[in-house]
Amino acid sequence: MAEVTLDLRGVPKAQAYAELKQHVLSVLEGIDDEITGMSTMSCLLHHAFGHLWTGFYRVVKPGQLLRVGPYQGTLGCLEIQFGKGVCGGAAARGETLVVDDVHAFPGHITCDGRSASEIVVPVFNRNRELIAVLDIDSEHKATFDEVDRRELEDLMRWFQK
Ligand code: SME
Repeated sequence: MAEVTLDLRGVPKAQAYAELKQHVLSVLEGIDDEITGMSTMSCLLHHAFGHLWTGFYRVVKPGQLLRVGPYQGTLGCLEIQFGKGVCGGAAARGETLVVDDVHAFPGHITCDGRSASEIVVPVFNRNRELIAVLDIDSEHKATFDEVDRRELEDLMRWFQK
């Protein structure tokens, strides 16, 4: 089970997240390396749901600068200032942002013109320091909802262990 990449498209969302979480926890058992966690989660989330872009922006200057980390998808912007775009907004506020239409979001940063909606979830370590944000982009509007918010926030608690 651990060495497979699940495709959960077509599985009801809550059930898909439950299966995915079990899988992530089993693959990452015994690992506490943040980059290994980010790489593994990018891969498994991306292939499970088939979204456009799935990955992490890491905090390289606290309160100031994010830099791209492990991801799957087309070329991502390398650096994002805190407060800029959806990723920078979620990092500055320390809270999840769900954006139904990125074209209506002031300051949205376009890395891939096909992106239409997105969710960005802050990632904290066990000391409650912001270490990254998880960014998932979809080519369809209004892809993400409260289930995604709750389940992805739950998955990101792996970084607090
Ligand atoms: N959409 C993001 C930028 C990063 S990429 O899309 C990979 C934003 O506005 O924060």
